[in-house]
Amino acid sequence: MILVVGGAGYIGSHLVKELIKTKEVVVLDNLSTGHRLSVDKRAVFVEGDLGNLEVLEEVFTKYSIEAVMHFAAYSLVGESVTVPLKYYQNNVASTLTLLEAMVKHNVKKFIFSSTAATYGIPSVEVITEDTKTNPINPYGHSKLMIEQILSDFADAYGLKYVTFRYFNAAGAHETAEVGEKHNPETHLIPLVLQHLLGRREQVAIFGTDYNTPDGTCIRDYIHVTDLANAHILGLEALLEGKVSTATYNLGNSLGFSVKEIIETCEKVTGIKANIVLSDRREGDPAQLVASAEKIFNELGWKAKYQLEEIIQSALNWHKSESF
Ligand code: UFG
Repeated sequence: MILVVGGAGYIGSHLVKELIKTKEVVVLDNLSTGHRLSVDKRAVFVEGDLGNLEVLEEVFTKYSIEAVMHFAAYSLVGESVTVPLKYYQNNVASTLTLLEAMVKHNVKKFIFSSTAATYGIPSVEVITEDTKTNPINPYGHSKLMIEQILSDFADAYGLKYVTFRYFNAAGAHETAEVGEKHNPETHLIPLVLQHLLGRREQVAIFGTDYNTPDGTCIRDYIHVTDLANAHILGLEALLEGKVSTATYNLGNSLGFSVKEIIETCEKVTGIKANIVLSDRREGDPAQLVASAEKIFNELGWKAKYQLEEIIQSALNWHKSESF
């Protein structure tokens, strides 16, 4: 069986929907940000915290776990600056507890969700895995710390792992049974779509004076099902012994500005947005675009969904949001 920690969250729940087609899955989630209804019915569900050694003991004893996939993290950059304790407690200390339980139970395969925030403000236009990491907020630091810990655990305990550095995950499952539902919502695409569907008064652009062609920030948006499929390839490579330690960027290798995202949402919905120009949001780099060449060369993964499809799938979810 595969243990998916954080399998009730946005990315974890999409992964489970794909993984369950070929594997038995146990989901461990404390439901602090995830939703019970997001967990595929075919998966075993355990409600509990990854920092709770007793719960972990129970899971590792009861189920025969081949590998662990870890999605249970706090991920709001701004909040990590004001409440760093929460980020280091959960993203670092609790993850260490999970790794401790894995070592104890001789589970040696791990898939880890890292982030483009590990690069900080990159000095290059297109980021490769060799681009220097230099986080500028506690969220990015917390993820990079675990990357270091994984490398040390590989040397000392023979841990095998794949780390994925996500760029901007977006979109929803083709069935629209699961999608992006954060509370509070801070992400651009859901905010714009909720506005265009009449659930928010307006949409703000955070900063129009960046050093980019239209002055707004550029990001690399990747469909959450593409992300899920990359994880499955990474898992298979680990299970088959083709990879022992690897770090991959996950993005579409295409950058879109905030203005372009709003325009595409307007095009997909046929509705005009009411836009407010606001100040920059603290901690936002001007541009984050991934090179995804390494994972293509090594695992044959390539993003399938383009921006309009990503936004269309998100729209389908928001229209039918059932929980
Ligand atoms: N933005 C707006 N208005 C809004 C919301 C966002 O202009 O109402 C802008 C942001 O300033 C940013 C862009 O839209 O320039 C994308 O913002 P998101 O909040 O959707 O995503 P981020 O790029 O800030 O963050 C995402 C993940 C983080 C991760 C980061 C790494 O959510 O967890 O990518 O690149 F750290």
